[in-house]
Amino acid sequence: MKREPLTLLGIETSCDETAAAIVRLRPDGHGEILSNVVRAQLDLHAAYGGVVPEIAARAHVDLLDPAIKQAMAEADVSFDAIDGIAAAAGPGLIGGLIVGLTTAKAIALACGKPFVAVNHLEAHALSPGLTDGLPPPYLLLLVSGGHTQLLIVKDCGDYQRLGTTLDDALGEAFDKAAKLLGLGYPGGPEVERHAAQGEPNVALPRPMLGRPEPHFSLAGLKTALRQAAMARAPLSERDVADLCASFQEAVADVVRDRVLRAMSLFEDWLPEGPDPALVAAGGVAANGRLRTALDEIAGNRGYRLVVPPPALCTDNAAMIAWAGVQRLARGLSDGMAAPARARWPLDPDAPPALGAGVKA
Ligand code: KG4
Ligand code: ZN
Repeated sequence: MKREPLTLLGIETSCDETAAAIVRLRPDGHGEILSNVVRAQLDLHAAYGGVVPEIAARAHVDLLDPAIKQAMAEADVSFDAIDGIAAAAGPGLIGGLIVGLTTAKAIALACGKPFVAVNHLEAHALSPGLTDGLPPPYLLLLVSGGHTQLLIVKDCGDYQRLGTTLDDALGEAFDKAAKLLGLGYPGGPEVERHAAQGEPNVALPRPMLGRPEPHFSLAGLKTALRQAAMARAPLSERDVADLCASFQEAVADVVRDRVLRAMSLFEDWLPEGPDPALVAAGGVAANGRLRTALDEIAGNRGYRLVVPPPALCTDNAAMIAWAGVQRLARGLSDGMAAPARARWPLDPDAPPALGAGVKA
């Protein structure tokens, strides 16, 4: 593996964050973030209660060039001084991905630098190496608005998917819960804020509890929440707080059970030597109740729990640059024909989860 310093520009446009960052791989193997610019599009999508793909793609066109310029300026590097350009090529919303990919390819071509097409999920998966110097192997819980997966990260490029969601992603479930309770978008932080004022006294189901494969299913929980809300309507502030607390508690129970199951499968695979580590990444990992649940099971099972700081847990371009660095250091780069991919599973050999939709 190459041990020269490597400096990459990373570009992220797979969803509703327009992001550019400069990251350097130092000869000691550690990463350094020279700049990390994220231009969120929240206000553009808030009125719709979710990301509108066409609006996102158009916003990336407007926001990406200034974001790259800012990232280069803050890192104080020129195109001459970078060793390559990495862009998220999927999975994600095609329109946005094409904006980022085309920009990255154009820069690579104009500057004669290598281009790396990065899997957005791989970037999340490898980010603890950048934030905490944690090398694989580890167990990863990836929970965001678009993804809900339990994976064994064996090495860069080598992943085993243990669990996925059969329907909604966990962040999506929080967003839908917030929407049906009349709260703002994104829903996760709103639900958490209201839950802090309430009691988990509404009976809600714990879907998939005890199932041998660590899959998730969240649609039924959302429906049960809707029914409980309708039964109490019109809702007082107190009702909303109690419903939020109950929803969050149900989610925490489900996550605890599914992660414990995944830990057993991970331990069956784990080679002699390394101490087990559990990584939680994605926007939902910011949830305090979830963190407490993960802390507790990690402590009980002798795992080190690593949660990258919020800015690097949610979508960002530093993680894209870091994944690009890892690939480039292994001599891997991509041609100009590299496509944008709506779906791009990290573990293509994973058996289909029974009843799962396209997100699995
Ligand atoms: O990783 P992220 O920023 O973007 C992607 O979806 O890729 O995750 C955003 C998701 C949203 O669904 C949001 O509601 C959820 O993460 N989220 C939370 C919290 N903060 C953000 N969910 C629960 N509790 C939170 N505190
Ligand atoms: Zn993401």
